[in-house]
Amino acid sequence: MEDKIKSLKEQAIKKLEEIKNAQDVENIRVEYLGKKGEVVEILKNLKNVEKEKRKEIGEKANVLREEIEKLIETKKEEIKEKEYEDKIKNAEKIDITVPVDENLGSLHPITIVQRELEDIFTSMGFTVEDGNEVETEYNNFEAVNVPHYHPARDMQDTFWLENGELLKTQTSAAQNKIMKKYGTPLKAIFPGRCFRNEALDASHENTFFQMEGMMIDENVSIANLIYFMKKLLSEVFKKEVEVRLRPGYFPFVEPGFELDIKCPYCNGVGCKVCKNGSWIELCPCGMIHPNVLRMGGIDPEKYSGFAFGLGLSRLAMMKYNINDLRVLNSCDLRALKQMKIK
Ligand code: DAH
Repeated sequence: MEDKIKSLKEQAIKKLEEIKNAQDVENIRVEYLGKKGEVVEILKNLKNVEKEKRKEIGEKANVLREEIEKLIETKKEEIKEKEYEDKIKNAEKIDITVPVDENLGSLHPITIVQRELEDIFTSMGFTVEDGNEVETEYNNFEAVNVPHYHPARDMQDTFWLENGELLKTQTSAAQNKIMKKYGTPLKAIFPGRCFRNEALDASHENTFFQMEGMMIDENVSIANLIYFMKKLLSEVFKKEVEVRLRPGYFPFVEPGFELDIKCPYCNGVGCKVCKNGSWIELCPCGMIHPNVLRMGGIDPEKYSGFAFGLGLSRLAMMKYNINDLRVLNSCDLRALKQMKIK
């Protein structure tokens, strides 16, 4: 029996030396220390050992058990350490010679145009504000001078929620809140997603993006409006653009305008983009109506301001030569990839 104990120890040491993974260690633990393991067998069979030797053999078997337990623990640690080192060695090997994956994603055209505009406006001292997508009827219509009986509501049918709120039809819906929040002087833009119940075609979508802007202070005039819009559009198209104002009707501005730019692609000679019209209608705008200022808590006798509502989707289409508005929301990779925007 004593010899057996000795040889079991040697055997266990040898086996442990050879193994390489945690599962093998577990197998060895079961082989020697498990319920039916070699060491346990010795302890179970003690009753068959001569009486005088029983105590000694029992002690030796217990020492053997402790020794094998220790050996197993040490081996486990060793394996863990080794696995960790291997991980470090193999991980984070970056092969900088691998060619760039051409299928990497890119920002959406609208996001690119939005960020570009935000940069330009912030450089001119405007802040960028958030608007909600779900709005109250008051903010979307009443507060911008479109009471419930106003025919202008017909042009902006939208999706109504059961609680009487709606999906905003225009970024103008944030005007009132922003005026109340900041008061005067105010220079802010607020880009956002808008919704309308539209019959869809190449230039009408139920979901589209606008960017609204407001500047309010003492003595703000149409000259300021023209200056900022010209500056902005020149930056967007990376060249000096010519602008013109035509009268346009929007209940929240008086006077109201349609701002056109001389087609930056053909310089007014006539092309596909301007449909040979030389001018492109780009940005409705105007001087903020006194009612709108008043509802925003601003005294129209003392302050004046301009507002505009740039069609972001429209601008992105122009910039990237996209001829169907529906492409922008389609999630169609075949179309988005063709835009090849880096
Ligand atoms: N909210 C208008 C629309 O969606 C666009 C607009 C026109 C905004 C004139 C303005 C503005 O701020 O002054 O049709």
